[in-house]
Amino acid sequence: MSLAGRRVLLVVAGGIAAFKVLELIRLLRRAECGVTAVLTAGGAQFVTPLSLQALTENRVYTDLFSLTDESEMGHIQLSRAADLVVVAPASADILARMAAGMADDLATTLLLATDKPVLVAPAMNVRMWQHPATRAAMATLTARGVAVVGPEEGAMACNEYGPGRLSEPPAILAAIAAMLAPGTLVGRHVLVTSGPTHEPIDPVRYIANRSSGRQGHAIAAALAALGARVTLVSGPVALPDPAGVTLRHVETAAEMLAACTAALPADAAVCAAAVADWGVEGAAGRKIKKTPGSAPPAIALVPNPDILATLSAAGPRRPCLVVGFAAETDDLLRHAEDKRRRKGCDWIVANDVSAAGGVMGGTENEIHLLTAQGTEHWPRAPKDAVAQKLAARIAAALAGEEPA
Ligand code: CTP
Repeated sequence: MSLAGRRVLLVVAGGIAAFKVLELIRLLRRAECGVTAVLTAGGAQFVTPLSLQALTENRVYTDLFSLTDESEMGHIQLSRAADLVVVAPASADILARMAAGMADDLATTLLLATDKPVLVAPAMNVRMWQHPATRAAMATLTARGVAVVGPEEGAMACNEYGPGRLSEPPAILAAIAAMLAPGTLVGRHVLVTSGPTHEPIDPVRYIANRSSGRQGHAIAAALAALGARVTLVSGPVALPDPAGVTLRHVETAAEMLAACTAALPADAAVCAAAVADWGVEGAAGRKIKKTPGSAPPAIALVPNPDILATLSAAGPRRPCLVVGFAAETDDLLRHAEDKRRRKGCDWIVANDVSAAGGVMGGTENEIHLLTAQGTEHWPRAPKDAVAQKLAARIAAALAGEEPA
């Protein structure tokens, strides 16, 4: 395995398993991966800076408040110079401090300041691992996109048995290699919109459409599976929340736009939502009552903001790749290409939503992908498969392997 030219910032926290990181460093160096170690006060009880320095062939960082460290290479530069931050062993204490956003030593300060992907390899006593505080910290960290390897189950130094053992160095190396492999979206943030919007008429009635959110949710899940940090802004749907994505539930187009702009910056945006083109002017604050003998109320519509067009024109905050959808019932390709140009997005996923096709609300999709380079036809397939293919294309485009 070669990790030539890649750089790992390795945070060594406290725990009897810390000795195993020496073997991990050896494996990383053998794969030609650069390693810089940061040793916490707890970690220094188990391994010495000297052994880390000898194996990494790099200076070891231990103290946030060392003026020499700060002038030579501050905590911001330390993480900037890395492709990946690895915390191994990750003690219950450092996981709790990471989840709480604390910055009370060099390790937690750089973990709070980094915009690089983070992998943790937990190791602790089984009851500490199973404690609700550690469960909550892990849930918070994984929802933020932190990747986890282990812990393994087995006999522990404290004469107990259960999950809590640090993964073996080859397993941690494999997790590192997977995160640094080409074709992944590790370290990328992708914004996805999904589902319909509901535009209230009064507190009990609304205007909606037939979108199920299946395609958008499948895209969010496929992007997360490739390692992306995904913010999914979803209108009202009857779908389970996809694992590993940050969900923002909204109701109206205006709320969807606000949630999308608040989620920026993003490397890519995929606007799969069927946003209502119009909202109701002056939606009633109270339920509209029938008055015997009077005419039905007139509903005046006002245009909604166009989220796709707004993201495409977001200036310096514009995602590098903006993907829109075109739902059409006739003259699919002409309307879709017109939409791509008019809305200023890079790609359009065009689908025929005529009732006969059963796409809207259904489980399958047949699409045309329109880019500046041309049009591709993707035959009918389950929405999950379409999502995986699109996520792989997005990864290739962001890696510069194909033009956006
Ligand atoms: N879209 C959006 N905000 C809107 C309307 C649409 O972000 N207010 C996005 C959709 O998420 C989709 C694309 O624009 O990615 C095209 O949506 P579509 O409904 O097909 O197009 P419309 O803009 O509504 O155009 P028309 O109704 O004229 O077909």
